[in-house]
Amino acid sequence: MANYVIAITGASGAPYAVRLLQALTSSGHGVKLVVSEAGEKVLAIECKLKLRGGLAHKEGQWKQALGLPESSDHLELFNVNNHAATIASGSYKVAGMCVIPCSMGSLGRIANGMASNLIERAADVTLKEKRPLILVPRETPLNRVHLKNLLAAHEAGAEIVPAMPGFYHNPKSIDDIVDMLVSRVLDRLGVDNELYRRWGGPLPEHAVTEIE
Ligand SMILES: Cc1cc2nc3c(=O)[nH]c(=O)nc-3n(C[C@H](O)[C@H](O)[C@H](O)COP(=O)(O)O)c2cc1C
Repeated sequence: MANYVIAITGASGAPYAVRLLQALTSSGHGVKLVVSEAGEKVLAIECKLKLRGGLAHKEGQWKQALGLPESSDHLELFNVNNHAATIASGSYKVAGMCVIPCSMGSLGRIANGMASNLIERAADVTLKEKRPLILVPRETPLNRVHLKNLLAAHEAGAEIVPAMPGFYHNPKSIDDIVDMLVSRVLDRLGVDNELYRRWGGPLPEHAVTEIE
C-alpha cells in the first residue's frame, strides 16, 4: 500500500476531497493531509466539517469523519505552515500528490514555483521528483490568467483533472457525481477502483433511437 499527499485548498468542491480520503484510507492507503486556511472554511460550508483546536485535535476530527480509529496511522495531518514537514522534502518517499479541490490561487502559486506554504512546497517537490501531481481545479468561467497557469502547470508535469463531472453514467445523486470525479482522480494516481459504472461501449437501452 502506498502513501499519497492530499491537499485541500479553498475552491468549491470539498466533498470531492472527503470522498477521495475515504476511498484511499478504506482501501489501505496512507494519506498525508494538508488543508489551507481557505480550504478549512469551504469544508465547514460544504461538508459541515468544522475543524477546531490544535493539529492533534483536527487529525482526530478527520479520523472520526472518515470512520478511522483514533490509533490509525493511515492519516497524518500537517499544518499548512509547517515548512519542515516530511512531505516538504523530496527525500521523503510518497507515490504522488493531489490538490483537490485546487483554487485558482493555489494553482497560480504552484504553476509559478512559489512554494510559500506546505501545499505549494509539497507540489513543487512532487514535480521535481517527477512523481504524479494531480490538480483538480474548480472555477468558472476561467480567465486568461487561469488558463495560462493551467498550461504552465501542465507543462511542468502536473496532470489537470478539472472538477467537470460527466453525466453519461446516469447519476442519481450528488454522491454519484462526486464518485465519478474521484474515480478519475484515483485512476490518475494508479489506484484500482470501481467507484462508478464505467462506459461499457454500446448505448444503454433507453438511449437507443429507432431508425425508421
Ligand atoms: C465558499 C467559497 C467558495 C470558493 N470557491 C472558489 C472556487 O471555486 N475556486 C477558486 O479558485 N476560489 C474559490 N474561493 C476563493 C478561495 O478560497 C480564495 O481565493 C483563497 O484565497 C484560496 O486560498 P488557498 O489557495 O490557499 O486555499 C472560494 C471561497 C469561498 C469562501
